[in-house]
Amino acid sequence: MRKKLVAGNWKMYGSLPRNAALLAPIRVAAEGLACDVVVCAPFPYLGQVQSLLTGSKVAWGAQTLNEYAEGAYTGEVSAAMLGEFGCSYVLVGHSERRSLFGESDATVAAKFAAAQAAGIRPVLCLGETLAEREAGQTLAVVGRQLAAVVERVGISAMRAALLAYEPVWAIGTGVTASPAQAQEVHAAIRAQLAERDAAVADEMRILYGGSVKPAGAKELFAQADIDGGLVGGAALVADDFLAICQAAG
Ligand code: 13P
Repeated sequence: MRKKLVAGNWKMYGSLPRNAALLAPIRVAAEGLACDVVVCAPFPYLGQVQSLLTGSKVAWGAQTLNEYAEGAYTGEVSAAMLGEFGCSYVLVGHSERRSLFGESDATVAAKFAAAQAAGIRPVLCLGETLAEREAGQTLAVVGRQLAAVVERVGISAMRAALLAYEPVWAIGTGVTASPAQAQEVHAAIRAQLAERDAAVADEMRILYGGSVKPAGAKELFAQADIDGGLVGGAALVADDFLAICQAAG
């Protein structure tokens, strides 16, 4: 039985007072939640998040990282730096990173490997655009994105990772994939892993992301292959985020 996990991706939102007000009720409520809870904050707030969440049941992470250990890469942040701020998770290959910042499958795979080398659990994001879905390419696109990483790190490394299926057309649009649409892709992702290693496939937690809101979360999380959520907008509102966590309970 896979334990459900709900991760909040704050994207480029937040401020010191807003983060503190958001995390205070989440920290308290997490004590009574059955699922794992993670928040992924912008880099400058990781120290604040660390000090507010240390000793709580809420884990934290970053939204991306650089694939190199160190060097003349102005503006970038390494896995080891994230580790110093207590990050146990990092998002890798979010569609906004792929589309807005030009991250290729190969770059995403390198970032995934760098996170793992530093002992940080990558959450590998996969997802198709609307045009790709309409062209019937959903499973091919998601399969290609996953294969690029599995080929680089090997199937057993996937044990120390999570996957998130985030259809691009559902992110920030208010349009959620239907439970059946999401389940179909989650099942295909798990089947792809199972071709290499049935145990890895069975243990893998595959999160759904894309306009997850309190209404509808329970039905999504009831699907056989949906193991939790990766939540954007609703993760910035404590009551909504906690209601989604409850739905995963
Ligand atoms: P929304 O929940 O705002 O659609 O964002 C989803 C997402 O991109 C989480 O990583």
